[in-house]
This record gives sequence, C-alpha cells and structure tokens, in this order.
Amino acid sequence: MPTPHIAAKAGEIAETVLMPGDPYRAKWAAENFLDDAVLVNEVRGMLGFTGTYKGNRVTIHGSGMGMPSLSIYANELITEYGAKTLIRIGSCGAMQHHIKVRDVVIAMTATTLSTPSRGIFKELNFAPCADYGLLEAAVAAARTKDTGVHVGGIYSSDVFYDERPDLTEIMVRHGILGVEMEAAELYNLAARHGVRALGIMTVSDHLLTHEALPSTDRERSFGDMVEIALEAAFA
Ligand code: HPA
Repeated sequence: MPTPHIAAKAGEIAETVLMPGDPYRAKWAAENFLDDAVLVNEVRGMLGFTGTYKGNRVTIHGSGMGMPSLSIYANELITEYGAKTLIRIGSCGAMQHHIKVRDVVIAMTATTLSTPSRGIFKELNFAPCADYGLLEAAVAAARTKDTGVHVGGIYSSDVFYDERPDLTEIMVRHGILGVEMEAAELYNLAARHGVRALGIMTVSDHLLTHEALPSTDRERSFGDMVEIALEAAFA
C-alpha cells in the first residue's frame, strides 16, 4: 500500500466500495451522495473518493471498462485495502422485451465466455453469483423507487462491438436480462476472497429494440442506482 494502481494511504479506503465503470461517475456520485468526500486516488485518472453516507464510511472508485480493468482495482481494493462489500453500479444493454431503457437490472448471476479468472477455473464452469443479502436489500431499495426492477442472470461480455449475433440470440433465448462487461469477474473475486459483491445496472440501451437512454435521463437513472446501492450496502 499504495498499490501499482491505487495511491490511497492505509485507512483511506472504506470497507464498502461502490464501483462505477466511469471515473467521472465516481466523482459525480461522491459529490452528490456522500458527505465529506475526499479524493483518495487519481492514478491513471481512475478517480476514487471516500466519504460517508448516513454516517457510514464508503468509497466510490472507478473500475474502468471490461473485466481485466475491474479485476485490477477490485483485487487491490480487497487484498490490500480490506474492502469487504463491493457493488458495481453501471449500465447494461437489455436483452428481453419486457425490460425497458431506464429500468434497473440486478444481477443474480453473470454468464461469460471468459473472465480473467478463466486461467484458474480451466475446464470448470464456475457460476459467479451475487451475495444474497446484498441482492435482497437492493431489490427492496429498488422497489421504493419509481423505476422498473428486474432480477436474474446477465451476460458479462469481453467485447462491446460483438461480432457474434448468434451468441446474443442464445443469451436472449435463455432468459439473460442484459449485457455488460464487468460483473462476472467481480463475483469471481468476491467468491475467492470471501467478500460480498453485487452488480446493479441501469439499462442504457436495448439490443432488441435499439432504443437508447437519452443523455438527459442518464444522470437521474444513475442517481437512482447510487441510492439503491448505498441503501443495500448499509441495510
Ligand atoms: N454491450 C456491452 N456492454 C454494455 C452494453 C452493451 O450493449 N450496454 C451497456 N453496457
């Protein structure tokens, strides 16, 4: 401590960490939802802030895009800084017609083709899943909001520009709710290190209808998700 990617000093990272992909979202969430937020990391522009929410210490730290990036930050937050509860707050593309843009998807499981953990699982198809207590608390918090909430399996892809429409079709047929690029590795790391993890995603675009969330609505949707994550973390 500090680590290769996080310059925070010992004690500057809270046991509860919210992880948006975008470091500027971390800044926005810290400024709008935390009290006494201070910048604790800016190595490579990956911003992290620690403050309090209703008196509870919390860090909001960017993960970057994709599982290799998230894996670096989550590993260091857990093994070096003692993070015990990690909640991804991100976006996903919807894969079912009953899901609408702006809805919230809470990931019970995360299917992948591959994760950075593939090297240790080899022939084993490990099933990365959410912490049940966090999941239950997040669903309860989401139900207090004026937003659709869906709980089920998601797909953590390694590519945004997917050249395999057949795979999307298979995911849709098997009831996968949405696609994003980080949750499965977060769940793998949480299982490995005995900590709690959850992925909460707002639907930013729809793979079936090609509808997209207007940029004017993104902030409000993101704010709802931050509140759901904070309420779930300290339920
Ligand atoms: N694909 C992958 N990740 C995403 C998407 C998508 O369509 N939308 C939001 N995150």
